[in-house]
Amino acid sequence: MNKLECIDISKSFILNNESLSVLKNINISIAENERIAISGKSGAGKSTLLHIMAGLDKPTQGHVRFKNRFLLDLKNKELSQIRLLNFGFVYQFHHLLEDLTIEENIHIPLLLNNSLNKTNKSRSIEIMKYLDIYERKDHLPWKLSGGEKQRAAIARALINKPKFLFLDEPTGNLDYENANHIQNLLIDMSNNHGIALITATHDNEFIKAFKKVYELSESKLSELNE
Ligand SMILES: Nc1ncnc2c1ncn2[C@@H]1O[C@H](COP(=O)(O)OP(=O)(O)OP(=O)(O)O)[C@@H](O)[C@H]1O
Ligand SMILES: [Mg+2]
Repeated sequence: MNKLECIDISKSFILNNESLSVLKNINISIAENERIAISGKSGAGKSTLLHIMAGLDKPTQGHVRFKNRFLLDLKNKELSQIRLLNFGFVYQFHHLLEDLTIEENIHIPLLLNNSLNKTNKSRSIEIMKYLDIYERKDHLPWKLSGGEKQRAAIARALINKPKFLFLDEPTGNLDYENANHIQNLLIDMSNNHGIALITATHDNEFIKAFKKVYELSESKLSELNE
């Protein structure tokens, strides 16, 4: 079974010639099918950690290991390929491309993967229906509500059937009802398709849906007791 491991990850940013240490010696291992939540106050480094785990950013020290490869050792092309085939990422601010329709946005990972074929186009329709955004498929993102945009970003992250889905505040900025809807969809989907969820969230309701909850505080990651 594949697992994703952070081995002694540290990250600092240089700001005005000073080093800002955001993550210190983080170790965590996530198996396929596992669901974890990472909590922590604003600025604690949750997004930074998710980006590093997903190979979107590089640690200052330490390694992310996936399928027995260190992500840092990979050439850009290999890393992109690993990400495309195994990881889905739902960004904190969804990052839908504003000039593309919802359906075109969802097709992007297929285009990158050279697999925008009939089967996958039908799959994209199924996912849009499942996430209740099919009626919106020809609209540009700005016409959609926050919850619809969030669901479109989730659809885009799922289109290549990732085994690991990273969710950065997937219910942030949503009202209770929408947050609850997205939360249930994600948990069902993870159960039905064996997708690991790695979720950064402030949302105490959502946190309750996870058996494993970690907290980032003062650059350290600790597992909270159940
Ligand atoms: N590229 C960057 N350059 C400099 N500083 C950065 C950069 N990215 C993040 N930071 C800083 O690192 C710290 C952690 O940021 P991060 O976005 O990971 O926090 P977070 O826990 O996700 O916060 P939030 O809950 O508000 O989303 C913050 O102090 C932030 O300003
Ligand atoms: Mg964040």
